[in-house]
Amino acid sequence: MRLFRFVVAQVLLACLAIALPADGGRSSSVTTVSLVKQFGYPIQEHEVQTSDGYILTMHRIPYSKRTGDTGKRPVVFLMHGLLCSSSDWVLSGPDNGLAFILSDAGYDVWMGNARGNTYSRRHASKTPLLQPFWNFEWHDIGIYDLPAMLDKVLYSTGEEQLQYVGHSQGTTALFVLTSSIPLFKRRIRSAHLLAPVAWMGNMESPLAKVAGPLFGQPNALIELFGSAEFLPSSKAMELMGSLLCRDHAVTQVMCTNVLFMLGGWDSPYLNTTLMPEIMATTPAGCSVNQMFHYLQEYNSNYFRQFDYGSTRNKKEYGNKNPPNYNVEGIEVPVYLYYSDNDYFASLIDVDTLRYTMNPNSLKRAYRMPEEKWNHLDFLWGLNVKEILYDKVLDDILNA
Ligand SMILES: *[C@@H]1O[C@H](CO)[C@@H](O)[C@H](O)[C@H]1NC(C)=O
Repeated sequence: MRLFRFVVAQVLLACLAIALPADGGRSSSVTTVSLVKQFGYPIQEHEVQTSDGYILTMHRIPYSKRTGDTGKRPVVFLMHGLLCSSSDWVLSGPDNGLAFILSDAGYDVWMGNARGNTYSRRHASKTPLLQPFWNFEWHDIGIYDLPAMLDKVLYSTGEEQLQYVGHSQGTTALFVLTSSIPLFKRRIRSAHLLAPVAWMGNMESPLAKVAGPLFGQPNALIELFGSAEFLPSSKAMELMGSLLCRDHAVTQVMCTNVLFMLGGWDSPYLNTTLMPEIMATTPAGCSVNQMFHYLQEYNSNYFRQFDYGSTRNKKEYGNKNPPNYNVEGIEVPVYLYYSDNDYFASLIDVDTLRYTMNPNSLKRAYRMPEEKWNHLDFLWGLNVKEILYDKVLDDILNA
């Protein structure tokens, strides 16, 4: 049985990781820069190198076209989720895109891009065409990418603190950072976390249910082969879509995008006008290990570091089990915004998170009254400004 599972896992892994030229190295003409320009706002690109050599691109809207350059502004940093990028925050345009809303409200808006995505595929000495580049997962985004980007933002602006907004994996990375490097709290005035993801034992994504039992094991494969770029082929996604996504109300196009497989598709809120932009910018690239680490959490119901199997765990962590993230110790003021219909961040898991956190750090836990609001609606839901972002903006102003 174990051998059978191992073989099936191998085959599936090969299917997922084989880079078909049609999918790999996507070069879409829709980019964060082109989108922001199209809406008439100023946009800058900034590069930063992490201490382990990854070269990341940040996008910045320094001021709003509606207000003009008003001089020094407080800083907000936006961090995208799994398979996503800085485009998330701008593709819905000035009325609904959070980056524009914050810019109009007087903020200097910076948007991060994690290693491996469309805008952050460079390294001082490694190439994304070869395997060693992809030996990372979201723990590294938390302890390398975020510190590098946040420090650069503070240095460039001369500010001492910034406010952080994350979606999905952008919240996980913040939990990793603030629980692993507690001193960083001095630089983050508040963290506003949309669809927060820490514990995952109750995740409802169909993809997790299928892949979890196979790939959520302590990872011996990784020991042998290392990680790889996660590149679901369009054929594989079409097959998955037809197997898993049976809802007739759903347009077929959603079910061929891995993002909806993870985040859910049965939402009446998704602004379908945005589908062309969403399809053009996502999936934006990640490493297979990012997926595996989440699937391990799904299987183990622990929010802890990557499980390499007991032998390597002993080497890496000095213990046969990986260490838990110290969520109790987080001191940054945190605001959570979550919903009932989120396949990725289920209510039970968010409850575990919020009851584990120190109550002095948890400033707000806003459970949305919109029952059908799902994981991706936090970015692209209809009327997201009135429904959610006005509240987030209020919290940012008052934090
Ligand atoms: C849906 O998206 C389009 C394109 O950005 C936008 O013009 C429209 O206002 C959005 N609709 C709602 C109700 O949010």
